[in-house]
Amino acid sequence: MSGEKARKSAADTQVQIFETVADLRACVAKWRAAGLTVAVVPTMGFLHRAHIAMIEAAQARCDRVVVTIFVNPKQFGENEDFDTYPRDLSGDLAKLEEARTDAAFTPLAREMYPPGFATSVLVADLTDGLCGASRPGHFDGVSTVVTKLLLQCQADDAMFGEKDFQQLQVVRRLVRDLDIPVRIVPVPTVRESDGLAISSRNVKLSPKQRAVAPTLYGELCRAAERIAGGASIGEVEAEGRAALLNAGFDKVDYFEAREAATLTPMVGLDAPARMFAAAFLGEARLIDNVPIGDG
Ligand code: PAF
Repeated sequence: MSGEKARKSAADTQVQIFETVADLRACVAKWRAAGLTVAVVPTMGFLHRAHIAMIEAAQARCDRVVVTIFVNPKQFGENEDFDTYPRDLSGDLAKLEEARTDAAFTPLAREMYPPGFATSVLVADLTDGLCGASRPGHFDGVSTVVTKLLLQCQADDAMFGEKDFQQLQVVRRLVRDLDIPVRIVPVPTVRESDGLAISSRNVKLSPKQRAVAPTLYGELCRAAERIAGGASIGEVEAEGRAALLNAGFDKVDYFEAREAATLTPMVGLDAPARMFAAAFLGEARLIDNVPIGDG
């Protein structure tokens, strides 16, 4: 179909749902044989506006879009919220239908991790700090499942949100290192009107916590502005942590300026950098990041 968009007709909007890798691959192979391009949007479900923005970005680039929905047990630590992570498969499928998504891949855990599964993908260095330091093993779980999803879907493009910027960099690196033939496409963070980054975990916030939550973005922006203006990085980081605790956050995992490409601590304004934070309000762990200067 040589680049021409093969738009679906109104009668053809039903999301095709696949639970096995074999069925998904057969569908993607059929699309490819017809000359269509394919994008994948990996998710853990409980879809919201930020996921829809990723689907729309995928639709703008490719002829067909697959959304994967799998709450990946391997990326949750023992004391983390795997059991209470929000799930709503039928609601998700309705949203995919409304967004005119072509296919959903909804594997069970035994399809992703059959008995005897023994392989793990580990991206070194990039995963040492930030969420890697406060959630040991998290990125091994992410890297392993993302590698599998990319190989299973065999898409041209794969969409990843900039809210999870460290995850985005880890995925870019594993795709490069393992020669996985896919383009990684970053999608800008989608925010509520008060600045709070949209996340599935926001449903865990009580009304009081929800009122405090936008402070995370506010403090990140303030810190980024101060560092871009020449303030001491160490001082700004310490002030940001204190400001979050004062505002009502229960715990701050990190509030740090890092180089965008390597995620190593920022030392000066020469290389693109970002301000990163993760902090708890009750059991909800919120993360966010913003560019410093031109980022
Ligand atoms: O960002 C997420 O929702 C997850 O980490 C991902 C990429 C779907 C892997 O489980």
